[in-house]
Amino acid sequence: MNKKTHFGYKEVDEKDKSSHVGGVFSSVAENYDIMNDAMSFGMHRLWKMILVELAAISDKDSVLDIASGTGDIAKLISKDFPNTEIYMTDINMDMLSEGRDRAINESFYANCHFCQLSGEEIPFDDDAFDVITIGFGLRNFTNKEKGLKEMRRCLKKDGRLLVLEFSKPLNPIFSKIYDWYSFNVLPKLGSMLANDSDSYQYLAESIRMHPDQETLKSMIIEAGFSNCKFYNLLNGIVSIHVAYDE
Ligand SMILES: C[S@@+](CC[C@H](N)C(=O)[O-])C[C@H]1O[C@@H](n2cnc3c(N)ncnc32)[C@H](O)[C@@H]1O
Repeated sequence: MNKKTHFGYKEVDEKDKSSHVGGVFSSVAENYDIMNDAMSFGMHRLWKMILVELAAISDKDSVLDIASGTGDIAKLISKDFPNTEIYMTDINMDMLSEGRDRAINESFYANCHFCQLSGEEIPFDDDAFDVITIGFGLRNFTNKEKGLKEMRRCLKKDGRLLVLEFSKPLNPIFSKIYDWYSFNVLPKLGSMLANDSDSYQYLAESIRMHPDQETLKSMIIEAGFSNCKFYNLLNGIVSIHVAYDE
């Protein structure tokens, strides 16, 4: 029997999940940046700045940004640390092309490489990177455990992994308001701004299916990292996990 996993709330064959996810991101690629600003009231920009701050990057570091999409994280790193070497990567060519075009248009391509790859099977050597970042990508993986082990393998000793992802709000009242917003407002915004409510319904569902802060921390340790701590942002709607391999 085929192994099953979740695509939002739907149960699908494991082997089919990445093409379902691919469909979502190919559909949203063109409007991704506008939607991100609208849905988060621009707050995703601040969350990404905090991630880069926590990454404690040095000027000559090599950085792998997984699930880069349109390249917000790579852009911040490239501008602040012009001597780093940044690999901007994504499984989806439509998203990666948006990111590459933006890097050219906004002049942050000089220290960037662009690679289409899956974070679940990273085609780089062991110990290749000082820093690995992933923003809002892990939730979409078919096999998160496998992806985290791959990240661990590709990090140098003393390297840092930073995972920015939706998580679980701490306050139950806040959580109810957030649920209402996610299932009533998000799909409508998707429909109005991008003519695509289904992808934003998937967004809301995939967030609910993603492990909470403590569970993700355990998964990161299970993947071989020796130390992991997380920071809750906006009452835990979003968290940043920082993992080290000491
Ligand atoms: C919500 S976007 C995040 C983009 C960007 N990091 C940001 O924070 O704005 C999620 C991205 O993850 C990518 N993705 C999904 N599954 C992936 C996988 N297994 N490996 C690499 N990228 C993946 C999608 O193609 C999409 O571009």
